[in-house]
Parts: sequence; C-alpha cells; structure tokens
Amino acid sequence: MTGNAVIELEGVNEWFGDFHVLEDIDLTIRERERVVVCGPSGSGRSTVIRCINRLEEHQEGRIVVDGQELDDDT
Ligand SMILES: Nc1ncnc2c1ncn2[C@@H]1O[C@H](COP(=O)(O)OP(=O)(O)OP(=O)(O)O)[C@@H](O)[C@H]1O
Ligand SMILES: [Mg+2]
Repeated sequence: MTGNAVIELEGVNEWFGDFHVLEDIDLTIRERERVVVCGPSGSGRSTVIRCINRLEEHQEGRIVVDGQELDDDT
C-alpha cells in the first residue's frame, strides 16, 4: 500500500470502568485501502470504530483522521 495514511491509531487504550476494552491499538489505514476488523463478539470491534468516528472518546494514545487529531478540541 502506497497511499497517504488517512486513519492512524497509536497506542490507543480505553476502559469501561475496570474493563480494559481497547489495549494498545496501533493501526494505519491508507487511502483506497479496505480493512476488515475481525474478532469474537465483545472483543471491541465496534468500540474501536466508535473511537475513530468520535462516538466514543479514547483515554490514551493518539487517533488522527485525515490529518485531524481527535482530542478535546475536535
Ligand atoms: N458503553 C459501554 N459501557 C460498558 N461496557 C461496554 C460499553 N460498550 C461496550 N461495552 C463492552 O465492551 C466490550 C466490547 O464491546 P463492542 O461493542 O466493541 O464489541 P464487538 O467486538 O463490536 O462485539 P459485538 O458486535 O458482537 O457485540 C463488550 O464486553 C461490551 O459489553
Ligand atoms: Mg459490534
């Protein structure tokens, strides 16, 4: 893959109370790339997508979407 990175996650962590739902997620998705997120029910697939579209706020790490870091100013 050679396109620009449009979605980047670096060391993303999130907890629901004591439950560590996302643990050190690193992910780069480039222009025109299609990615399938696999895993058992409850493994956090929807949660990671909800962090990327900002329906959830991650607690640690960085998420950058098309050059815009998702933070308190987003
Ligand atoms: N708002 C929330 N508060 C507390 N726990 C949550 C919340 N949302 C999700 N969870 C829990 O986090 C875990 C991951 O949920 P998620 O919805 O990301 O799973 P999934 O991989 O999409 O699985 P599926 O779609 O089969 O439910 C599950 O144990 C779920 O119960
Ligand atoms: Mg789901």
